[in-house]
Amino acid sequence: MNKKINQEPTAVTVIGLGNMGVALAEAFLKGGHPTTVWNRSANKADGLVAKGAALASTVADAVAASPVVIICLSTYEVMHEQLSPLTDELSGRVLVNLTSGTPDQARNTAIWAAEREVEYLDGAIMAVPQLIGLPETLIFYGGSKTLFEAHAPLLRVLGGNAAYLGDDHGAPLLYDLALLTMLYGSVYGYLHAHAFLSTANISPTAFLPFATNWVNHVIAPSITNPDSARALEERNYATDVSNLNTNKLGLEHIIRASKELDIPAEWLKPLHAIAAQQVAEGYGNDAFERVFEALRKS
Ligand SMILES: NC(=O)c1ccc[n+]([C@@H]2O[C@H](COP(=O)([O-])OP(=O)(O)OC[C@H]3O[C@@H](n4cnc5c(N)ncnc54)[C@H](OP(=O)(O)O)[C@@H]3O)[C@@H](O)[C@H]2O)c1
Repeated sequence: MNKKINQEPTAVTVIGLGNMGVALAEAFLKGGHPTTVWNRSANKADGLVAKGAALASTVADAVAASPVVIICLSTYEVMHEQLSPLTDELSGRVLVNLTSGTPDQARNTAIWAAEREVEYLDGAIMAVPQLIGLPETLIFYGGSKTLFEAHAPLLRVLGGNAAYLGDDHGAPLLYDLALLTMLYGSVYGYLHAHAFLSTANISPTAFLPFATNWVNHVIAPSITNPDSARALEERNYATDVSNLNTNKLGLEHIIRASKELDIPAEWLKPLHAIAAQQVAEGYGNDAFERVFEALRKS
């Protein structure tokens, strides 16, 4: 006869009920986890309480309510403001901090947690609230592997693609910022493109087929190409495709045309300055990726 092992779902606390915190708490409730919540503005818990969450009246009560505490506040400063006054409540708990910040903030918080005998994982959510709870949703985690593995089933309730990055508590936010800087760079370029087009009354919709073609056939293949990744690793900037000299001139055309059309192009000037310096140093026939030499930590 098969005996079914009945494991009680882990009780969990969510601190911070902004757009993201509400989505995290909802996912836990949906997964059948007893869920306690706390937020500075208590009214944001109303919908969750209606779905079965317990509302703690203080942060201390919220932490004391569950063995695992998920933090999702606006900043690390806010997190420390709320948690640092607590002493005994934190000891022996597992803290999973999904608040955005910098790698150093995460590393310092891991030291802070260890001093209080708190088991600590840092994480970074690579999704919007509407994607929380889906199997493909990516969330990075860093800290003790044993701790991550012990809680992976619970963390997968928030996003099935729970990616463990190693012992370094700063790694999730380093990866997060790497992906975000790619996002902001490309979105700014996209908006600059439309500033150009607006000077001739060309609508974003009319341009869409060309933007789509360009992204899919030129940009995406070039930055997702394993050979390019290897070339950066090896610092090998040989090219027979498009060299630094050509790209420096391309940047000059954009900057000059922006001036003629009276739209800003300040964001490209530092990039142009690096390319111009490298061309002056004799690297004009190298790939544009040589710019990385001026950006990377030496
Ligand atoms: N939204 C997203 O798409 C997304 C995606 C990835 C990561 N994240 C990260 O998730 C975290 C939360 O984002 P969010 O979108 O939920 O932000 P949000 O909607 O602006 O919520 C901010 C949260 O921080 C709390 N808070 C702010 N200042 C506070 C203070 N001085 N004392 C106590 N609580 C304070 C707010 O409480 P009140 O309700 O009382 O103001 C609220 O719970 C951020 O670190 C964000 O970068 C968000």
